[in-house]
Amino acid sequence: MYSFGAFTILSQAIAATTSAAPTTTTARDASKTVTLTGVTHSVVAGLAGLQFDPDNVVAEIGDIVEWHFLPKNHSIAQSNFAEPCQPLADGTSFFAGFNFVTQQNQAPDVFQIVVKDKKPIWYYCPQQTGSLCQNGMVGVINQNFDNPAFSLSKHRDLAAKTTVSIIPPVQQGGQVIANPNPLGGF
Ligand SMILES: *[C@@H]1O[C@H](CO)[C@@H](O)[C@H](O)[C@H]1NC(C)=O
Repeated sequence: MYSFGAFTILSQAIAATTSAAPTTTTARDASKTVTLTGVTHSVVAGLAGLQFDPDNVVAEIGDIVEWHFLPKNHSIAQSNFAEPCQPLADGTSFFAGFNFVTQQNQAPDVFQIVVKDKKPIWYYCPQQTGSLCQNGMVGVINQNFDNPAFSLSKHRDLAAKTTVSIIPPVQQGGQVIANPNPLGGF
């Protein structure tokens, strides 16, 4: 994977800076608290093209997934496997908003979610300009590797067949925080 070594090092550096004492959080789902593990997985949007890198994260309950944004104007929104490029029908999707516009380097803020269970979490870049989701700018956390029918590549095939990306109506879920490593090697 492109520059995976650099990513891994940065990921560890971020994990080190965020590994405070385990605590509980009510992010994303107020009805469910989890104990944070102190592990942070960094994903970068827009590295070497219109994609997420890595686009496939394996995370434990209590891990944080943190998106960093490169040019120009990306975001993330949660979807499901079968209906790419649109938010969940029940209105619970996380959506980072379009807060990450940058002409060069990383955007000053990042978006984080806490992984609450081991179910697959599918997401897409809802930027309509350039049809980014249709062109494959999708990702997954905890894909079910035992069932190829629900693979990321199958999801990408479904995304390519959609006609337009839906921008969710409100920013919600997760949190936007200052980029903890704005000069990291992306
Ligand atoms: C970024 O993209 C969003 C969604 O297409 C748009 O509403 C917003 O105006 C864009 N921001 C800039 C600065 O271009």
